[in-house]
Amino acid sequence: MRLPPQRFLAALMALSVLALGTAGCGRDEAPDLINGKTKFVQKCASCHALARANASGVQGPNLDQAFGPARNEGFGAGTVDGVVQQQIALVRRNSSMPANIVTGADKKDVAAYVAEVAGQPGEDTGELATAGAPDVSNKVVDAKGDRLEIDADPSGALSFVAGKANGPAGALTLVMKNPASIPHNIGIEGKKVGPVVGSGGTSQVMENLTPGKYTFLCTVPGHADGGMKGELTVK
Ligand code: HEC
Repeated sequence: MRLPPQRFLAALMALSVLALGTAGCGRDEAPDLINGKTKFVQKCASCHALARANASGVQGPNLDQAFGPARNEGFGAGTVDGVVQQQIALVRRNSSMPANIVTGADKKDVAAYVAEVAGQPGEDTGELATAGAPDVSNKVVDAKGDRLEIDADPSGALSFVAGKANGPAGALTLVMKNPASIPHNIGIEGKKVGPVVGSGGTSQVMENLTPGKYTFLCTVPGHADGGMKGELTVK
């Protein structure tokens, strides 16, 4: 059975009213879309595609496809906003999407940003254009002997704890501990990569390297584009 369009609208409206009701204080302030985009890139882009945020995660639904058609059929941004806030707060049981991954003002801002841009053509402009841009760390790590440990960022952001690394030529073992709730791995672009591991896991891979510059990265789709990569110098 399919709901007639009016019923569908009514269902969506009910959802967004519920979301308004449960959002609590701070509702009167206008959402901060820059914070929304930044948080989206940090917390959501690893699993969801959203073109305006350069996000290409594949574990969850493509949000342009999920909300673009409704927006283009005349549902307002407010309706989508409510649905997104609802999804964040009331994740289905056993979903791989962590519940309440953002809360409070961050939740409101992320939902407002998704509602604003999902399925919309063009590019973000002004300050929004650079918000959430990949944040590759300036930190440098050096190999200890033939072991080079570069852990994943513990906050769930798409980055390693260091953006640059140095190692010796010959056999080098790359090791990444993953303290985040999102699966990651480590490897060298165009070469072998370690297994994808979840929270608490360690990904590890051995390579024979000649002197030169390489890119170390996480090969989970969308992660390297989101900033999870760096430069390895082998001497
Ligand atoms: C670890 C992966 C993961 C992360 C991180 C994640 N999601 Fe999800 N999301 C999913 C999956 C999987 C689904 C599919 C539905 C389900 O499992 O409940 C989903 C569903 C959704 C839906 C419903 C889409 C539809 O077609 O109805 C929305 C909206 C959504 N997520 C938004 C977000 C936002 C916003 C964030 C960041 C604050 C986020 N997700 C973070 C995995 C993720």
